[in-house]
Amino acid sequence: MVGSRSRYRALEVVDGLKERWTGRDLTIEAADNEGAADADLIVIATPWDGATQTAQMVETHLRGKVVISMANALTKIGKEFQPLVPPRGSVAASVQAVLPGSFVAAGFHHVPAKELGDLDHPIESDVLICSDHPEATKMTAELVAKIPHMRPLDCGELSLATPIESFTAVLLQLNVRYKTRVAVKFTSIPE
Ligand SMILES: NC(=O)c1ccc[n+]([C@@H]2O[C@H](COP(=O)([O-])OP(=O)(O)OC[C@H]3O[C@@H](n4cnc5c(N)ncnc54)[C@H](OP(=O)(O)O)[C@@H]3O)[C@@H](O)[C@H]2O)c1
Repeated sequence: MVGSRSRYRALEVVDGLKERWTGRDLTIEAADNEGAADADLIVIATPWDGATQTAQMVETHLRGKVVISMANALTKIGKEFQPLVPPRGSVAASVQAVLPGSFVAAGFHHVPAKELGDLDHPIESDVLICSDHPEATKMTAELVAKIPHMRPLDCGELSLATPIESFTAVLLQLNVRYKTRVAVKFTSIPE
């Protein structure tokens, strides 16, 4: 997972997770961004305005690999969440532009992180995935399918990342209005 700006901070996070989930034998290791980018499958999980810069810094490590972009370009104006339009229409497309040798997929935008991290209470959610590279969609879907109660949905090409990312503003607004953490689930798609 590319995101933590220092190895020390990553160590702190990993120690905290291992302590919280003692007995689950978590196979996670801390690394700086170069170390994380050496993994087989990489998730870029920074705030939206740091995603392309972070990707560019480790571009050589990411060549030939699938990279998942999950960032949402949003701002809050008063009490309203509003989507922003990043260069090329989405964060995922901007990341793909700085990683011409990688296979970028957009995914995980709508999954609430805190609930996802609660291993004792899995959340039920669909995960919308789009990419210009079928192998990136496939690898991302395989990752999603490993998470209990999550269903990957192939939404087509990376151009669809624009509405997927901006729809997050709607979900956050619903969270505020109904004092909850919503997740996305579509009906009428066969399991
Ligand atoms: N939170 C959610 O429920 C959720 C759900 C779906 C998608 N997302 C998306 O996932 C991304 C991460 O969300 P989050 O809530 O985890 O954010 P976050 O806690 O603010 O940041 C995540 C990581 O990004 C690093 N970071 C912060 N600013 C950076 C910068 N300018 N450049 C490079 N790295 C930076 C931080 O490193 P340090 O630890 O070293 O400060 C931190 O490890 C966002 O784009 C968000 O839209 C979030």
